[in-house]
Amino acid sequence: MLIRQNVALAPLTTLGVGGPARFFVEALTEAEVIEAVEFARSRQLPLFVLGGGSNLVVSDAGFAGLVLRVGIADVSNCTAPNGVVIFDAGAGFDWDALVAQTVDAGCAGMECLSGIPGTVGGTPVQNVGAYGQEVSETIQEVRVLDSQSLQIKTLSNADCSFTYRSSIFNTTERGHYIILRVSFTLRPGGKPNLHYADLQKFFANRPGEPTLAEARMAVREIRRGKAMLIVPGDQDARSVGSFFKNPIVEQSFFEQLSERLRSRALQLPSYPAADGFRKLPAAWLVEHAGFSKGYVKGAAGISHQHALAIVNRGDATAADIIALKDEIQSHVFDEFGIELRAEPVLVGF
Ligand code: EPU
Repeated sequence: MLIRQNVALAPLTTLGVGGPARFFVEALTEAEVIEAVEFARSRQLPLFVLGGGSNLVVSDAGFAGLVLRVGIADVSNCTAPNGVVIFDAGAGFDWDALVAQTVDAGCAGMECLSGIPGTVGGTPVQNVGAYGQEVSETIQEVRVLDSQSLQIKTLSNADCSFTYRSSIFNTTERGHYIILRVSFTLRPGGKPNLHYADLQKFFANRPGEPTLAEARMAVREIRRGKAMLIVPGDQDARSVGSFFKNPIVEQSFFEQLSERLRSRALQLPSYPAADGFRKLPAAWLVEHAGFSKGYVKGAAGISHQHALAIVNRGDATAADIIALKDEIQSHVFDEFGIELRAEPVLVGF
């Protein structure tokens, strides 16, 4: 196992900012993951596990410990006695390639999660979701290394406590487990999920029932239109996707805010959430706090295609990105009394 020193992290992220890792290792097997954790432990180094780098802001100082990239990247599938198909993939397997395989195999359940950058191992952490699906709907088990006991465990879906953009991996057990593999339960011959408004609009004037492959293609097209698909050369795609979570507020707060905005002739959009709560589109709040698409703040800015994507306009530093994040959060708070929560993981801050 090759442990490298002072490895630039910016090129390993979609945002492309930040300094180096003091130590860096890519582990290709479970044994190497254990070896890497032991290396960090023996030198009392903090450990950070890197996936596809698509939801990460690395500080300009970099990370003064060991960055571990889990490169376990095999995939297999089998049909269970009850007819469902289980896809089992290493944490380092490319997420969109897995989605493509499931769609090619005629299996439904993750077609709406097409075009999302990153690796399989990153998806349970924030319960990746888009266009009407979340990975929590298909995850069967997550195989992990307990970084304290160095035991390998298998967590069930329920063990992961999935909610919107959240799981034990980014809350109560943050830093405790290293994800090694994830298995997903898919429905062979299942129909694509076309409930999301953007998808309904996409297929509105097309005859016939869309196939899984057409749903996948549609999601990728819609994402491309919002610069949420990594297209080489598309400067608006140099981002972490959504920089903020969509805030979930109490129904009473939502009603008061809606009323106040109505008096300014503004209609506040919202979506259902748990009983007594509403989910608000952070992108709308950002725009109505004065940040239009294409907003520029030095080398950082907001995507021309989507108000929720902070972009690196070329040679931004992490400090430039954070300054814009802070500015947006403070304006949204002043305007609406809502604290936007950052969605990406901040490393080395
Ligand atoms: N909107 C604006 N301005 C914009 C874009 C959107 O005002 O520039 C408003 C509109 O009212 C629109 C609403 O926001 O109807 C929702 O926009 P969109 O459908 O693009 O979805 P989103 O809530 O911004 C979420 C996820 C995305 C996911 C899409 C599609 C979060 C934080 N983001 O975005 O996930 O792809 O839905 O399901 O939940 C990500 O997490 O990185 C990500 C890209």
